Parts: sequence; C-alpha cells; structure tokens
Amino acid sequence: MEPLAVDVATAAPYRVQIGPGVLSLAAAAAGDARALVLTDANVEPLHRERLSGLAEAPTVAVEPGETSKSLGAVEEVLEAMATAGLDRTSALVALGGGVVGDLGGLAASLYMRGIDVVQCPTTLLAQVDAAVGGKTAVNLAAGKNLAGTFHQPRAVFVDTAVLATLPEEELAAGFGETIKTALIGGEELLDKVEAAADRLLARDPDALAEVVAGCVRVKAAVVAGDERERGSRKVLNLGHTFAHAIEHAAGYGRIPHGVAVGTGLALALAASRRLGILEDGDLPARVRTLLERLGLCPTLGGLRSRYDVPLEPNSLVAGLRHDKKGRAGAPFLVVPRAVGAIELDVPADGEALQAIFGA
Ligand SMILES: NC(=O)c1ccc[n+]([C@@H]2O[C@H](COP(=O)([O-])OP(=O)(O)OC[C@H]3O[C@@H](n4cnc5c(N)ncnc54)[C@H](O)[C@@H]3O)[C@@H](O)[C@H]2O)c1
Repeated sequence: MEPLAVDVATAAPYRVQIGPGVLSLAAAAAGDARALVLTDANVEPLHRERLSGLAEAPTVAVEPGETSKSLGAVEEVLEAMATAGLDRTSALVALGGGVVGDLGGLAASLYMRGIDVVQCPTTLLAQVDAAVGGKTAVNLAAGKNLAGTFHQPRAVFVDTAVLATLPEEELAAGFGETIKTALIGGEELLDKVEAAADRLLARDPDALAEVVAGCVRVKAAVVAGDERERGSRKVLNLGHTFAHAIEHAAGYGRIPHGVAVGTGLALALAASRRLGILEDGDLPARVRTLLERLGLCPTLGGLRSRYDVPLEPNSLVAGLRHDKKGRAGAPFLVVPRAVGAIELDVPADGEALQAIFGA
C-alpha cells in the first residue's frame, strides 16, 4: 500500500508517514547531514537494517526497557553524538519503542541546544501515541518522566511491518492506547477498530496502518490545539489516572502501562456512570467487549488473576491521589460522556472511588 500521511500542525509542522516499509524513507528526512541512529538491543538485530539509506550511520543501542530512561543514558547518548561528530545540522534517528523515543527526543533537544530528531517508533504504543506530540522525558528517583522537554520531531516514520516481531503483551498494551484514542476520536475510528479487530490481532500491516493513521490523526489534532499541555491536551489522559493508580498499587513494572490503560478505560466509564455523566449507556459494555477481544482486562479482577497482584481498593485510592497529574487533595478525572465526547477535570470523592474500585 502507499504510505498514509498525517500532517501535524504544530509551530514547526511535520509529517507522519504510516505503512509497511516506510522506514526506508527515513534517510531522506535526515537529509545529507550526519545522522546517528539510537535504538535498543532488542530492536537493533531485528529492524536496524530497514533504515536502508542510513546503513552507514553510526548506531547506539541502549539496554531495552524503562531503566534506559535515565539521565545517565542521556549522557551516554550525548557523548556518542559528539564522538560521531554531529553538528547543529545533524539529526538523531530514534528507532524503537517509547523508551528510545523519549530518550532520543530528550538527547536531541539538548545537544548543541537542540538538533532534529526523526522518530521511527517500533511498538504499537509508540506508533499510536508516544512518537507524535513532542514530549520527551527520562525518569528521576522521585518519579517517572520528571525530567524532560517539548521537542517536536522533524518527521515520523511508522512502519507497521515491524510489529510482526513485537511480544504479545506489548501488542496488547498498544491496543489499550488505541482504544483510548478511538474513544477520544469518535464513532468512525471506534467502528474501524472494532471492524478490524481480527486483522489487527493477526498483525496485518495494512489494517494496522489504517488504524494507526486514525489514531495519529486524533493525536495530531489534539497536540496542534495545545502543544504544551496547558489545557485541552489533558483529554489524552483518558484512562490514565486510573492506570497510574493500578500501576502504583501493583508496583511499577508489574503490569504494562498500556494494559493498565485498558482497564483504566473501563474504570473511567464506571466512574462516568456513577457520577451521572454518562450519556451513552451502551458504551461500557461495548468497550468491555472490545478490550476483551484485543487481549486486555476490562476488570480489576481480571488484572489481579493475570498478574497475581492484590490491587486492594484502599491502595488504588491512595495511588490515585499519588498521580502527579491530579491536584492536591481530591483527584480530578477524565471521563467519557459518549464516544468522542470527553469530560475533563471531573472531581471525584473518595466514596465514589472506593465503590468503583470495590465493584
Ligand atoms: N512521549 C510521549 O508522549 C509518551 C507517550 C506514551 C508513553 N511514553 C513512554 O513510552 C515508554 C513505553 O514505551 P513502549 O511501551 O514502547 O516500551 P519500550 O520502548 O520499553 O518497548 C517495549 C519492549 O518492546 C521491545 N520492542 C520494541 N519494538 C519491538 C519490535 N518491533 N519487535 C520486538 N520487540 C520490540 C523493546 O526492546 C522493549 O523490550 C514509557 O517510558 C512511557 O513513559 C511516552
């Protein structure tokens, strides 16, 4: 198929190209200038060679996983950029999941006060979410994503053929963010995800490209309207407040973030019903069915047995209060009224939350 294109209308606009094989186009975006490829040790042997025009570019492969989102890793990447002789006209090409994208974006925004980054996401989660929008960050001992910048990429290449090698659970995690984005985007995208469910599970690269492009369109519109998360971009936190509570209660790293987001969506819908906000009464059952079909857990009970974690209601409420996006005291929720109609800044009292978590 011809690549699908989505333009992101940020202050410095850029194009996202989506489809099987698009990684071979990334070299053109890096330009004639020197480039460095940042990847991780899992992705390098599987997909590095797909960056065909960048065969000669030096490569740095970090340890896979969240531990590479550290200031130490930023330093390592910056030193490698200097050793490779990158200058202000050079580009960093980030080939990997959200970890590589966040680390690479941050290093590129710091090197010589900022050089271009070309994002080449290789997990479904990074393709539908992390690679677009310009948020970069690493973790501090005090919490996740506490040190970062906004640095929009020069271009994004989303190659859905690379998803063939993605571990099952990482695919499911990507579906969590996909369903979230469809709920924000509206009926057409949610219908498309439902209709394509079997082909998505079979990792059909064309079906994945159609759905990822739908998600990128939604994210691009949200980001263009609020580049620095001053207000409306909060809609992207749908399901996340609950997901953070789940991850906090389970112990970070036990449950993949996107899987927790999937359950978080079901909880956000339960909250919407309980608080009298829900207008589309059929939506919770519809979302539950889709979550199940795509390998996610619509209930806390399902998460408890799949990951062998207690997830007590009390520790979930405590985790919700701990969420850095909440405000002091009562947590504020993002909940759907209907498909494509999301309510921001909904206050929730402890009693309502306890009931939702206990259900
Ligand atoms: N910047 C943003 O807007 C944003 C948004 C969402 C998430 N994030 C960040 O993204 C990170 C999570 O990203 P992730 O879920 O992609 O995790 P990840 O980058 O750790 O990748 C998950 C695993 O899959 C492996 N992998 C990647 N692509 C593969 C492929 N094609 N085949 C086989 N294995 C592959 C990786 O090596 C890793 O082991 C978190 O740190 C989160 O904070 C950032």
